[in-house]
Amino acid sequence: MRRLEGKLAVVTGAANGIGRASALRFASEGANLAIIDMEEEGLAVTADKAREAGATVLTITANCTDEDVVADAFKRIYAEAGFVDILMNNVGQSARQRASEFYASSSEVWRFVLEVSLMSTLISSRQVVPAMREAGKGKIVNVASNAGLAGEVGLSEYAAAKMGVIGFTRSLARELAPFRVNVNAICPGVTKTRIIGNISEDILEKIRQSIPLGFFAEPEDIAATAAFLASEDSRYMTGQSVVVDGGRWMV
Ligand SMILES: NC(=O)c1ccc[n+]([C@@H]2O[C@H](COP(=O)([O-])OP(=O)(O)OC[C@H]3O[C@@H](n4cnc5c(N)ncnc54)[C@H](O)[C@@H]3O)[C@@H](O)[C@H]2O)c1
Repeated sequence: MRRLEGKLAVVTGAANGIGRASALRFASEGANLAIIDMEEEGLAVTADKAREAGATVLTITANCTDEDVVADAFKRIYAEAGFVDILMNNVGQSARQRASEFYASSSEVWRFVLEVSLMSTLISSRQVVPAMREAGKGKIVNVASNAGLAGEVGLSEYAAAKMGVIGFTRSLARELAPFRVNVNAICPGVTKTRIIGNISEDILEKIRQSIPLGFFAEPEDIAATAAFLASEDSRYMTGQSVVVDGGRWMV
């Protein structure tokens, strides 16, 4: 399928995992890319693979929680690559090694998780929304989590941030619907990226048993949904949070 032929897609957090798989899927469907990440090396790997698939690729090493840095990144994108047809806000993470149940948690960790998993989405979206409104087209795909829907022990601030992403998605979708800009979110379940190295085998096994389909997602499973939401195939969907978690949370 070449549903994204000639479109420019910006993917944040594209040096690894779901972001890399989505960038590569977009490239394989004909999109050109501007990819942003803090990790320069991983970004270069993604860029090389996307170029092999025929995409032109602009790489930008940047911290997506820093508003000024992100504004500069998008200035470059508009100058060098033109109108952003698709923005995938993929940057985000839990407290990982610093995760704890709420009674033992600290505001420093909450702030870190809210910045990286919620503020980053608002910051990048703010850069593309004026141009999308004016052009009367565009797709924004936000990466939330099924943790935002179901809640997760030890991940309260992460679940709060991801529910925040869902609320933001719904509100922005309403604001932009008159301009034919679609804004949707994906709620992945456990996906086989480097992050699952932070979860003990015991807990992973418990989670696996709670998944009706009985296995964890590959990053490409999430990328397939991202490509759908980035394409005209989903033109009649906006404000949705598409759950891709093997049936763990059924809407
Ligand atoms: N893997 C899962 O099980 C899972 C489940 C649900 C939701 N998610 C969400 O999917 C998204 C991607 O997760 P992943 O598992 O692929 O993680 P990952 O760590 O493999 O990839 C995330 C990428 O984002 C980059 N990044 C992190 N903070 C950044 C910042 N401030 N500025 C720029 N780049 C930054 C990292 O360098 C990395 O390349 C996240 O939003 C995550 O919360 C993941």
